[in-house]
Amino acid sequence: MTTPRPETLAKLTPVLTKRWLSPDAWRIGTYEKLDGYAALRKAVKAHPDDLIQLIKDSGLRGRGGAGFPTGLKWGFIPQGDGKPHYLVVNADEGEPGTCKDLPLMTHDPHSLVEGVIIASYAIRANRAYIYIRGEAVHAARRLRNAVQEAYAKGYLGTNILGSGFDLDLVVHSGAGAYICGEETALLDSLEGFRGQPRLRPPFPATHGLYASPTVVNNVGTIASVPYIVLGGADWWKTMGTEKSSGPMIYSLSGRIANPGQFECSMGITLRELIELAGGMQPGHNLKFWTPGGSSTPLLTAEHLDVPLDFEGVAAAGSILGTTATQIFSDQDCPVYATYRWLEFYHHESCGKCTPCREGNYWMVRVYRRILSGQGTHEDLDTLLDTCDNILGRSFCGLGDGATSSVTSSLKYFKQDYLDYIEGRTAPKLSDKQLVGA
Ligand code: NAI
Ligand code: SF4
Repeated sequence: MTTPRPETLAKLTPVLTKRWLSPDAWRIGTYEKLDGYAALRKAVKAHPDDLIQLIKDSGLRGRGGAGFPTGLKWGFIPQGDGKPHYLVVNADEGEPGTCKDLPLMTHDPHSLVEGVIIASYAIRANRAYIYIRGEAVHAARRLRNAVQEAYAKGYLGTNILGSGFDLDLVVHSGAGAYICGEETALLDSLEGFRGQPRLRPPFPATHGLYASPTVVNNVGTIASVPYIVLGGADWWKTMGTEKSSGPMIYSLSGRIANPGQFECSMGITLRELIELAGGMQPGHNLKFWTPGGSSTPLLTAEHLDVPLDFEGVAAAGSILGTTATQIFSDQDCPVYATYRWLEFYHHESCGKCTPCREGNYWMVRVYRRILSGQGTHEDLDTLLDTCDNILGRSFCGLGDGATSSVTSSLKYFKQDYLDYIEGRTAPKLSDKQLVGA
């Protein structure tokens, strides 16, 4: 374990995480003592359009993975259309390795509630939903408690803080399907249908919940809003890089000494993050890692100094995604890791489109063959060919994401595959597991 150098420690920029260690920060009294709801008091005195402009000026980009500009998304909501508008928070965090939203909702639920009220005021929505994954029972309980407390204090309900603005907020628990994190499947699920993606366009901004204009934003995106309202766009832009402004919560897991969440300026490197986390576990050397969860192409030790912002990671051939950096060492097998992720995608595929439903099923079978020592050289071509037929041909991002670790592990670690096929690595799966395919 290494001790972080002072200049690396200084890279921590606690903004969204700053209350996490304060005892009882999840209670409204404590939250208010720690500046809570001050941003809302300021926001309701402003014109909604000015708030949208503020978020545009801050350069805030979506924290759910895609990095779409938040102010632009809010600006898409048509005004004066006579239709109800909705704000839906995507709290269905399910990407393997990703764990930034759940601790935020558990430790500091009011920051999300406050962000929801400000964002709803800006887009003129009178009803908002937080769609939280079904397994997150504790976080959902904390959120429901926070919502009740906010109603009791007049931050939710009618004529909020005397502004004339009304808002109702509902916390809705899903039933544990990964696909319900895809925004249109989430909306279908919220409407009571089976959660399956809808065709986009039209985007939710014009045809969302109940076919009405809807903003769907991630937890971290909405929880950033009160800080921007209080601190201003220029302060927000003092953190991060030119096109990726602000702080970001990086989730580190795997072969490192102290896994957890580290909030830093966007653009920090994995080398610095690993040092912040106390270094690699003793006896382990970095071999491969995901910059943003298992749907993002793997990177290697060559990429330790890549700036972890949207542009930097893209230039390195991957995607920043959910900033879930899963760290694997020379004692981990990229073929086996990819197989486990593919099993996940195969299980979670909603089955609506053929490339994803069939492609993932067949790729799992090919991996089982390789890992049980019965693979052939042709299997590697079959994998690439299958990925080619999934990528860009799937109905939603789940199919595309499933191919990321397959193509990138074949690009960087083909030798590990050949070692199974040519008998230099002992099989990891038994014949029985192969038959189980
Ligand atoms: P996307 O780029 O298609 O869309 C991003 C957002 O921008 C959406 O809200 C969409 O409605 C909006 N948008 C895009 N173009 C628009 C337009 N022309 N007009 C109006 N609105 C527009 O990305 P998508 O498919 O929504 O999300 C993919 C990302 O999700 C991946 O990068 C992945 O990292 C992430 N992800 C996150 C998970 C998690 O647990 N947080 C789970 C799985 C994936
Ligand atoms: Fe369903 Fe997969 Fe097609 Fe998405 S890509 S619609 S999850 S089958």
